[in-house]
Amino acid sequence: MNFAIVGCGFIAKRHANAIDKVKNAKLVAVSDKVPSAMEPYVIEYGATPYENFNEMLKRNDIDIVCICTPTGLHAPLSIKAAYAKKHIILEKPIAMTLEDTDKIINACKINDVKLSVVHPNRFRPVVRELRKIFDQNLLGKISHANAIVNWNRNQKYYDQALWRGTKEFDGGALMNQAIHNLDLLLWFMGEPEQVFSMEATRLRKIEAEDVSAGVVRFKSGALGMVEASTTAYGQNYEESITLFGEKGIVKIGGKNAIYFEHLEIEGMPEKNITDLKEKVENDPFGIPGHQCIIDDMVKAVDEDREPAVSGEEGRKSLELVLSFYKSAKNNQLIQLAKEKEYVKN
Ligand SMILES: NC(=O)c1ccc[n+]([C@@H]2O[C@H](COP(=O)([O-])OP(=O)(O)OC[C@H]3O[C@@H](n4cnc5c(N)ncnc54)[C@H](O)[C@@H]3O)[C@@H](O)[C@H]2O)c1
Repeated sequence: MNFAIVGCGFIAKRHANAIDKVKNAKLVAVSDKVPSAMEPYVIEYGATPYENFNEMLKRNDIDIVCICTPTGLHAPLSIKAAYAKKHIILEKPIAMTLEDTDKIINACKINDVKLSVVHPNRFRPVVRELRKIFDQNLLGKISHANAIVNWNRNQKYYDQALWRGTKEFDGGALMNQAIHNLDLLLWFMGEPEQVFSMEATRLRKIEAEDVSAGVVRFKSGALGMVEASTTAYGQNYEESITLFGEKGIVKIGGKNAIYFEHLEIEGMPEKNITDLKEKVENDPFGIPGHQCIIDDMVKAVDEDREPAVSGEEGRKSLELVLSFYKSAKNNQLIQLAKEKEYVKN
């Protein structure tokens, strides 16, 4: 299948690299408003450069477009690509607003094209192992979970492009960095019902938040705690997800949430626990997440099925981020789910 990329900045390199590694995938075109940004892709992959995105979309031989522009541009570009009958791999966050998100999802439905949102952490070996543990209900009833991201994005990072840290095109620590962890939290904990959050902009000169703290009550009745920042001194400090169940505790941790930092499950022999930890430690990144997503899209088109992380899935973490923002702005408890009754399990 023939791929094109729009937005040839930092993350586009990962897409190009991944396309190159996936069977039956080829990068044939790139588009960016800055011509020099496209040069590496012309040289390395023989892609045809287009300053004009609409011109690129006229090509009938392009099957899938990867959208890698600033987030605030995801909606207009995705909608154009959908109407040009291209399947779409869309970088996270899916968009900046739910209105834009729904327009993207609808445009894809109307034009019968597939939409995959890039949440690569779902494909990490440690996350896949946790998913297996979770699906077998080995942790039993969950009382609560937390997602923590204390990373360093210094002022130089925010100053390298005008869109970074703005509320219109990027958002702050929650929207840009911790959204991956919110996606995982929701993937394990299910639908959120209530949200309360506080945020601040303490150390970076940006419009959006550089630190955020929030709580979630899930529909199951379990609680979730979220801590996100880009203010960690010097370098990335920690990224983790911890689930507390009646039959065990699992913490995925380290600086980048790639290992089992704690694994304790009732009745599981010590040897099995050690083996599982070692299995992950021996190959913590596995196949890169972007490659898994490109590969999944090629198969989804081939098999005419939904991609692993659909538009609706991408919408969930955005909705949670926006609820955190709304709560922090209005100092208000946000009621998300319509049903008032908690599911009792
Ligand atoms: N999944 C991940 O792990 C991950 C990591 C980093 C960034 N991202 C996401 O990827 C997106 C891009 O981030 P980045 O760090 O690569 O940004 P970047 O600033 O490095 O690159 C953006 C590129 O888009 C181009 N561009 C801007 N407006 C354009 C337009 N109208 N038409 C065509 N090209 C245009 C810019 O010239 C630039 O080359 C964001 O949505 C971000 O949240 C995802």
